[in-house]
Amino acid sequence: MSIGEVQILAISGSTREESLNTSLLRAASEGIRGAGGTVTFADLRDLAMPMYDADLQRDKGFPESVREFRRMVAAGDGFLIATPEYNHGPSAVLKNALDWASRRDADGVTGALFRGKPAAMFSAAPGVYGGVRALIQLRENLSALGLFVMPGQMALVRAKHAFDEDGLLNDAVLQAEAESQALRVAQMVLSLRPRD
Ligand SMILES: Cc1cc2nc3c(=O)[nH]c(=O)nc-3n(C[C@H](O)[C@H](O)[C@H](O)COP(=O)(O)O)c2cc1C
Repeated sequence: MSIGEVQILAISGSTREESLNTSLLRAASEGIRGAGGTVTFADLRDLAMPMYDADLQRDKGFPESVREFRRMVAAGDGFLIATPEYNHGPSAVLKNALDWASRRDADGVTGALFRGKPAAMFSAAPGVYGGVRALIQLRENLSALGLFVMPGQMALVRAKHAFDEDGLLNDAVLQAEAESQALRVAQMVLSLRPRD
């Protein structure tokens, strides 16, 4: 298997059009694209999943938006996940998506769509902490899903002025760091594959 066959799903916990977190994921994904791979983005605004409701799931099953997100997660070999820091935690929209993805379907089969797959975490904020406090919580949430969360993470500080007109980070060192965080996920997917 080559890196070109690795399916990486990027999930931004911000639905904002000019989201700094989505921008950071786009910049980071260049590391995978540059190596010949592809990154698909899950757009949580377009998906517009309702808030998790166990009664809704019991009575009506997964809404179509949830099914679509779950299909994307199931197809992903590895993940790039970014969250805004909201009151020192991950965004509700991201947590909600993760919660829906963690539930078993009506047949009781697939409650472990993330299990055993690698993920890298990113955050971006206008302030001087870059969202690092949200990443502390997010690491626990992702571990609960059975993801192998990469030891490194990237919290981009003063992110409002961090991007150039091409969407890359102004600071070449930070751009290289973002790319290598992402690329390591794809490489981890390959190293976890059973060899013939
Ligand atoms: C409800 C709310 C809570 C926030 N709490 C924090 C916070 O705890 N720490 C922080 O650095 N920024 C905080 N911010 C500012 C966000 O970091 C900022 O809005 C950021 O641009 C959001 O990410 P996005 O650009 O990807 O949408 C908060 C913003 C909102 C709307």
